[in-house]
Amino acid sequence: MTSLWKRALPIIPVVGVAGLAAYDLLQKRHAILRNFPVVGHARYALEAVGPELRQYIVSSNDEERPFSRNQRRWIYASSKLQNNYFGFGADNDTEFTQGYPIIKHRTFSDIAPATKANRGRGDNVPAAKVLGGHRERRGAFRPASVVNVSAMSFGSLSAAAIEAVNRGAAKAGAMHNTGEGGISDHHRHGADLTLQIGTSYFGCRDENGRFDLTKLIDIVDSNPVKAIEIKLSQGAKPGLGGLLPGAKVTPEIAAIRGIPAGVDCASPSRHTEFDSADSLLDWVELLASETGVPVGIKSAVGNLDFWSELVDLMSTTERGVDFVTIDGGEGGTGAAPLIFSESVSLPFRIGFSRVYAQFAEAGIADHVVFIGSGKLGLPDNAVVAFALGCDMVNVAREVMMSIGCVQAQKCHTGKCPTGIATQDKWLAHGLEPLTKADRAANYIRTLRRDLLKVSEACGVAHPGLITTDDLDILNGHESATTLRKVYGYEAKWGVPNEFDAAEISTIMNGPR
Ligand SMILES: Cc1cc2nc3c(=O)[nH]c(=O)nc-3n(C[C@H](O)[C@H](O)[C@H](O)COP(=O)(O)O)c2cc1C
Repeated sequence: MTSLWKRALPIIPVVGVAGLAAYDLLQKRHAILRNFPVVGHARYALEAVGPELRQYIVSSNDEERPFSRNQRRWIYASSKLQNNYFGFGADNDTEFTQGYPIIKHRTFSDIAPATKANRGRGDNVPAAKVLGGHRERRGAFRPASVVNVSAMSFGSLSAAAIEAVNRGAAKAGAMHNTGEGGISDHHRHGADLTLQIGTSYFGCRDENGRFDLTKLIDIVDSNPVKAIEIKLSQGAKPGLGGLLPGAKVTPEIAAIRGIPAGVDCASPSRHTEFDSADSLLDWVELLASETGVPVGIKSAVGNLDFWSELVDLMSTTERGVDFVTIDGGEGGTGAAPLIFSESVSLPFRIGFSRVYAQFAEAGIADHVVFIGSGKLGLPDNAVVAFALGCDMVNVAREVMMSIGCVQAQKCHTGKCPTGIATQDKWLAHGLEPLTKADRAANYIRTLRRDLLKVSEACGVAHPGLITTDDLDILNGHESATTLRKVYGYEAKWGVPNEFDAAEISTIMNGPR
């Protein structure tokens, strides 16, 4: 280094700071920088790393949202088959938290499913109802797992993440919902698929963007599609339609969806193939008869007019959906406006119970398989869902966490640091699908095992047999009310009919 350089070196930072100060003073976009040149940048830096700071340093075990540190720790440990127990006792503020659910164990019971040989690992917890059984669809089947992977498209998730989730679901015997973005090669690693059809009909639309039945039949026939889910809405952005930010629309995704690359891809808020419960049911029957597989709907819950019309039509005509997926307003998304994710549509427990009640009052709850989603990948929430009448739960963000998501909440930017919710090749290359597939499978199995253990504590053979009388909702120290009373359920609501209950008990425990 020349002596001139040596003398100039200490001046460079000074010049840099002076330049930055001059820029801050002259720019007009940020008042904070005009008022506090140079040091004002610390505010933006802190804002950018705020979530990470809170997550790792400041927050307590139960503070973080949407998933607390304890909840995430349970998922991480379960997915790595590490010790997922917690020491010293309850950490939640049960005494002072309004609405805290308590599961009421039984002292004696002759049913102890999870302690029997080969049942302890949650390998065998099929659904208590046959999907498509009531309407005798050609492809009716009993889902092998009560826990399945919720809709997340290739596009919102990276290719590596889709592959990891698909392989993991296959290992755990769970179904993988494609999301509304269509089927890609990354979905073809062994798992049975639920094909989701959104308002843009990606994967089964013609060159004008209209639904194309021939393409749908072709796609169902050439892939392991076991069910079709018509997406009416999702909890995080109901009535809004989908949105894939342009940063995530790669040429591969653009080709699968039939859209231009690099441009925001917004799906309309409503379908063009039907515009009422009546025409929806016609379409459901068309898809079911043409493809042979059970057909259901996914929706968040707001105004109930649609549901009463649907239930009325299903009670009085031969038509009907095979399953209903209810997504809670607390559900996740790749990207949504704040007002929609925070305030539009009811939270899961209220929304689900209102819809279930309509089916139960009409006496047709048995005709439908009920699926719940919205933070139901945690055992306590899932138990409440099963008690309220869910036959299965779908899990999205919890599965993301099982494959490494750190809740950075950057899905909408395309800059997910763990390579999951991104199309950035560099970021995605860090995610190794085969290792992560094992983790997703471990997590799903562990959740099923915990559900079985809780069923055992309640003295029943299967989570679907836990009733609304088996849970109380706490009002702090003052009182506890049964789940049944809180949600206005009648006796025998929320559990399968006697035939289905006897059948699932036999499947779980053998003939009695
Ligand atoms: C990254 C991401 C992408 C999603 N994509 C879809 C989608 O394509 N279709 C859909 O119906 N729901 C979509 N969802 C919602 C989930 O399927 C699920 O309903 C919701 O996140 C609630 O489940 P969770 O609380 O287990 O995450 C997405 C969620 C996330 C986090």
